[in-house]
Amino acid sequence: MDRRRFVGLATGAIASAALPACATLVVTPVAPVGGVVRLAIRNFAQLGQPGGYLKIQPIGEAAPLFVLALGGGEFAVLSPICTHLACTVNVEGAQLVCPCHGSMFDRQGRVLRGPAERPLRRFPAALTPEGELVIQLGSAA
Ligand code: FES
Repeated sequence: MDRRRFVGLATGAIASAALPACATLVVTPVAPVGGVVRLAIRNFAQLGQPGGYLKIQPIGEAAPLFVLALGGGEFAVLSPICTHLACTVNVEGAQLVCPCHGSMFDRQGRVLRGPAERPLRRFPAALTPEGELVIQLGSAA
């Protein structure tokens, strides 16, 4: 293999490894109205496929939220704040993982591995017939 081809392959491998981590860093600002966020799902291709997710920052709120596609038109809207000691979790494949002490949650926010004992806060969200995901910010479980 020549040097140019090796460098090209190595660069591609590094970029592939880094992209999932970068996706967690991209935050989409959204403007709530009356404590409600409305997302037109068609505008976010990543939410059209199971396993896709979006990180949103409701303007005026302290922390961002993860919107995760569960498949079958179902979505989970989760706080990224770990319920152990409040570090910020990252989406890693089918789980959300806390970098501080290793707690792991499923895409519905349920604890898969401690030390966290409580699920991530989940916000009520429903898909309208028009394809809008309506997220209630004030009533997380
Ligand atoms: S803060 Fe998340 S596991 Fe400790």
